[in-house]
Amino acid sequence: MNNWKFSQLIINWQHQYGRNNLPWQTKKNPYHIWISEIMLQQTQVKTVIPYFNKFINKFNNIHILSKAKLNDILYLWSGLGYYRRANNLYKTAKIIKNKYQGNFPKNIIQLMQLPGIGKTTAGAILSFSYNFSFPILDGNVKRILIRFYNIIQNQKKSDIEKILWKKITQITPIHHANKFNQGMMDLGSLICTYKEPKCNICPIYQNCNYQLNKKNDNLSIKNNIKKKNMFFIILRFKNLIFLKQRKNQNIWKNLFCFPEFQSEIDINHWIFKKNINNLNYRKIICIHHQFSHLKIKMYFFQLNIKKKHILNTKYNIWYDLDNPKKIGLSKPIKKILLILKNIES
Ligand code: ADE
Repeated sequence: MNNWKFSQLIINWQHQYGRNNLPWQTKKNPYHIWISEIMLQQTQVKTVIPYFNKFINKFNNIHILSKAKLNDILYLWSGLGYYRRANNLYKTAKIIKNKYQGNFPKNIIQLMQLPGIGKTTAGAILSFSYNFSFPILDGNVKRILIRFYNIIQNQKKSDIEKILWKKITQITPIHHANKFNQGMMDLGSLICTYKEPKCNICPIYQNCNYQLNKKNDNLSIKNNIKKKNMFFIILRFKNLIFLKQRKNQNIWKNLFCFPEFQSEIDINHWIFKKNINNLNYRKIICIHHQFSHLKIKMYFFQLNIKKKHILNTKYNIWYDLDNPKKIGLSKPIKKILLILKNIES
């Protein structure tokens, strides 16, 4: 099958069976496309939709976003994960406002210099907003190409990337690149799925190598997932909970969290040093949380105190369970706060 035929089959399929009514597809506004593409990195469409709608409702355009407070952005991002995306979003909004007078650059090199925008996101912005012919290569597109062309997996990752970029650049059509790109992503997530692809209803099935070479399909080999334990102390004064904004940690940077420690002993030392005069803390819960590269066990200890001892810097707050402040919180911390609200101190 030649490249032209491949692209036409995808475009026709997308027109008939693809996703054409997503909230960011209605206006072809680069700001909307950008926000959606950042949210869609590593995240499914159905998860993104409510977050996208709330975000656009509050931050209607790039000028409003560039003047927002990072904490307000993180609040709306809470639970969506990969919070670095929200931090980068903020940096990019400021650059676009100051350097490009609030207009998205139409030049791919300039777009790719913005924080959080790689070649794929830049290609998506340019093709979906202006119908320029630029390829995209996200996980879904990669899976289709690897299976269709039977690209051998046991070679250097960077070599595979090069092959895939070359292929997708050749196939992406000059006209209707927007439909083609959307079609490849839709096909990857609806038909050429990671597990049990629906080959019988795939538009490019006839020339695909997947069925013949299924045994070579080692897409399922996951990267090594590391493990880590984290320890947290929940300081509670009546219905107030002590939270700190995470500043120097890689995980959940800039989100609010209970003070974190490497071990239980460290908690003990910290309480002692802070002069809290009450070492009577107890373990309340352990929860598991998984990132793409890391599995963590989070141990939570609780200590009820009689006086608010801890110094307030602007990064430390007392979070009122009865009147919660709008701040950025990760999913597990949100969950624990909800549990705390339902149990008496
Ligand atoms: N993943 C990344 N961008 C997407 C889009 N526009 N539609 C569906 N899935 C996507």
